[in-house]
Amino acid sequence: MENNHVKLEIPSKQTEISIHFVGDVHLGASGCDKERFKAKVKEIASDKNAYWIDMGDDCDCITTDDPRFSMSAYPSNAKLSDFVVENQAKEYIRITKPIASQCIGKHLGNHEAKFTKHKNFDVHQYIIEANNLRSLAYCALTKLFFIIKGGTAFTTTIFSHHGAGGATTTAGALNKVEKFIFSHKADIYLMAHTHQLATKEYPRLGTQETYSEHAKIVERPQILLLTGGYLRTYQQGVTGYGEVKGYQPIKLGSPKITFNREQHNKIDQYVMRVVA
Ligand SMILES: [Fe+2]
Repeated sequence: MENNHVKLEIPSKQTEISIHFVGDVHLGASGCDKERFKAKVKEIASDKNAYWIDMGDDCDCITTDDPRFSMSAYPSNAKLSDFVVENQAKEYIRITKPIASQCIGKHLGNHEAKFTKHKNFDVHQYIIEANNLRSLAYCALTKLFFIIKGGTAFTTTIFSHHGAGGATTTAGALNKVEKFIFSHKADIYLMAHTHQLATKEYPRLGTQETYSEHAKIVERPQILLLTGGYLRTYQQGVTGYGEVKGYQPIKLGSPKITFNREQHNKIDQYVMRVVA
């Protein structure tokens, strides 16, 4: 487990801050929606107050000698070079280079971990070093310190895990991430791996964080997020792994959380909203 403290400089109280959660791209798989992924990179690059966490499984990492490999999962024009993991990693590095400085940290996915275990190439570390990223390994607590010009600051804590297990329903995957509420103290709980894109929010009441003789009750919700992905379950003319397993088609893409300063009950506070 990693412990990640990050300072983010915010130009003014009026600035909207966005944190994107991008994972399960599976670059190299024939079902990877590369254009949608590139559009997400462009969206992050175009906003200097946007940041992102890489949730892992960036590359598909399934080579021709892997028991999960099946030629029927690829179109007839697939080339041997498509299955070379180093090529997948180089392409991922090239696509995400423009947003590398906005990355809060990168997780290791199970596809990368399995490949590294059996081959002499650490694909996760290769991407980390090439784009100068912080490794969040499989699981991390990240505390964000938003430093607003003029001196004020606020914090939020994110628990993130690449994910494990075989939950194939949204409810099952949300139940899995929900259990972390009892073991890890955070405001936002993230899990990738199942490729589901879903959220659940618990309103939570607390006392205001700054001292006051007339302290007010404030709302600070806990947010659960399944962070989606870019791998299509079904494609015309191709028999993919998800199709064989009978998985549901999924909504592709990545969620984000925005932070805006608003006044509620005469107290200025940052309000989190999920955009999925
Ligand atoms: Fe995945």
